[in-house]
Amino acid sequence: MRYPRELIEEIRMQNDIVAVISQYVPLKQKGSSYFGLCPFHHEKTPSFSVNSEKQFYYCFGCGASGNVYGFLMEMENMSFPEAVQELAQRANISLPEPDQSAQTLAAERLKSRLMEIHKIAGRFYYDCLQSDAGTYARSYMQKRQMLPNVARKFGIGYAPDNRHALYDHLLQQNYSIEDMVQSGLVIPDKSGNGYHDRFRGRLMFPIFDVQSRVIAFGGRILDSGEPKYLNSPETPIFSKSRNLYGLHLAKATRSKELILVEGYMDMFSLYQAGFHNVVASLGTAFNQEHARTLKKYADSVILLYDSDDAGTNAALRAIDVLVQNGLRVRVTQVPDGKDPDEFIKQNGAKAFSKLLVDAVHYISFQIACIQRKYDNHIPEHRVRFATEAAAVLSKLESDIERNVYTTEVSRMTGVAENALQSEIKKQRQKEDASFQKEAEQRRMRLQRQYGQTEEAEKGVLDAQKTLLYFSANHKYIYQALKQVLSKEDFPTPVYADAFDAIATLWEEEDHVFVAQLISFFEDAPSQRRVTEIFTTRALDDETYDLSKGINEAVVLLKRTNIDRKIAHSTTAEEIQAWLEEKRKLEALHITI
Ligand code: CTP
Ligand code: MN
Repeated sequence: MRYPRELIEEIRMQNDIVAVISQYVPLKQKGSSYFGLCPFHHEKTPSFSVNSEKQFYYCFGCGASGNVYGFLMEMENMSFPEAVQELAQRANISLPEPDQSAQTLAAERLKSRLMEIHKIAGRFYYDCLQSDAGTYARSYMQKRQMLPNVARKFGIGYAPDNRHALYDHLLQQNYSIEDMVQSGLVIPDKSGNGYHDRFRGRLMFPIFDVQSRVIAFGGRILDSGEPKYLNSPETPIFSKSRNLYGLHLAKATRSKELILVEGYMDMFSLYQAGFHNVVASLGTAFNQEHARTLKKYADSVILLYDSDDAGTNAALRAIDVLVQNGLRVRVTQVPDGKDPDEFIKQNGAKAFSKLLVDAVHYISFQIACIQRKYDNHIPEHRVRFATEAAAVLSKLESDIERNVYTTEVSRMTGVAENALQSEIKKQRQKEDASFQKEAEQRRMRLQRQYGQTEEAEKGVLDAQKTLLYFSANHKYIYQALKQVLSKEDFPTPVYADAFDAIATLWEEEDHVFVAQLISFFEDAPSQRRVTEIFTTRALDDETYDLSKGINEAVVLLKRTNIDRKIAHSTTAEEIQAWLEEKRKLEALHITI
C-alpha cells in the first residue's frame, strides 16, 4: 500500500501543518511557532506547539510529535494511506491507486464484500417489510406513527420470523458462509451443524456510515420480549464506539449544532417532525471517539437524553467527554420521565422547539443535578450542595461564566458569594497542583525513558564500550574520534570519564596502558566497569568490520544524546535545533 515517495512529499508540502491542525485545535502564534491545548492529553495550559517553519508538532506535556500525516493518523485514527488520501483531497491532488500489500488488499476486499452483504441485506429487509410477511410490522409502524416516506429515507425494514430467510437469500447470491458469518448477520448454530439469521421477527433500523453505506443494523422486537433492541456485533466494518446513528442525515443539514439523543426511535421521530440535525448514541456510553467524530461536523451539542436516572447519569458523563473535546454543550430534558419520541408525538414540533430554546448551559444542568440530591432546609445539606457546586464551577475556564454561575449558586444555597469564591479558588489551586504533579510525573517518565533506561540499554552500553576499546588501543582511531566525539556524547558517567582519561593519556603520555587508565578511577565499581571494556570484548577478530562498527556506535550515541536533549528542551526553538542536529547525523561518516 505504497504511494511514491515524491508524491507523499508533494502532498505534505501542499498541506500546511498549521492550517490542518487549526481545524482541530485553536492555535496562537508565538514567533515561528503556534501554541494550543494538546488534543492528545487533557491539559489546562497550552503545551502543544506547532512549528510552521519545520512543519512538525510537538507536545511538551505528553511528548506527542510528528508531521502533518502523523497528526491526522493520531487525531482521526487513520492509517497512513488514509491520511495521504485525506490530505491529497484537501490539496486537490489526484492519487493513483495505491500498491497494496496482499494482506491489506485482502482486508479491503473483505470489507467491500461485507458492505455489499449489508447493502443486499438492507434491501432484503426493506422488501420484506413491503411484502405479506411484513403486514404485522407495518401495523406496528402505524401504531408508532412512523410515516412511510420517512421510513423509506431511513431504510427501515423487517427481518422475517424465519431461521434462514436472509441466509438463504445470501446463499442464492453466491456469498460464502464465511463472509456471512463475518458480517454478523448470520450465526452458526450451537449444534455446529447449521446457520441461522441473527435478526428474526424484528423491525430493522439500518445503521449507516457518514458516506451513507449500510454497515450494521439495529432490530426492534415487535411485541414485548428481550432484548428490546438487538444490534449488530462489532465487525471489520462496524464499531459501536465509532459510529453515531443518523450522522449521515445530520451531516447533510450542515448545521453546526447537533441534537444528541439516546435511541433509534428518538432520532426517527425528531427527524419526522422536521428536526434533521439529530444523532443518536446507539445505547452505548458516549465516548471520546464519538465526541471527536461529532467535532468534525459541529461545534455545539444539545444533549437530550431520557429524563430517568440512567439517562441523567449518561448525560452527565457525556457532558464531560463533549466539553473535553471542545464542544459547547447545552442540556435539555423532556418533562415527566418521557423520552423525546413520546414527547414530540404527544406535544408536537412547536412544544419541542421550545424545549430546545430552553436548553441550559451544561453547568446549570450539573448544578441542578447536585441540588436534586439535597434538601435545602438542612444546613448540612446546603454545605454539601455548595461544596459540590464549587467543584463543578472550579472547572469553568471563563472568569465571566464562573462569576455568573457563582451568583446563581449563591442564590440557590444562600451561601455568600465570597465564601463560594474562596472555595472555588481553593479547588482550582488543588486542581492546578495535581495538574502540575501530573506534568512532573510525565516529565520524569520521559527522562527515565531517555536517561536511565538508555543506560540500561545494551546497545548504547555496547557502543560506548566499543569506542572506548578502540580509542584506547589505537591512537589513529582516537584521533579520528576526537574530531566528532566529546565526553558529553557518553551517557554513562563512568564511560564519559574514561573517554576523558584516554584523551589525557594520549595527549600527555602518547600511550594508553589499561592499568594506568584504570587507576584514574578510585572506586571499585568504576574500576570494574572500565576493566570490563578490555576483558569482555573480542573485537580484534579478523571478521569485525571496524569502520562500520565505529560509525554505527558514534551515530547511536549521538542520536540517543539528541533524543535526551529533546526530552529536556523547553522551547520549540530548542527542539528545532536538535532535530536539525539529528538530521545532520545522516551525513556523518568517520573514515578510519
Ligand atoms: N438499546 C439497545 N439494546 C437494548 C435496549 C436499548 O441497544 N436492549 C439502545 C437502542 O439504541 C435504543 C436506546 O438504547 O434506541 C434507548 O433505549 P430505550 O430508551 O430503552 O429505548 P427507546 O429508544 O425508548 O425505544 P422504544 O421507543 O422503541 O421503546
Ligand atoms: Mn421510546
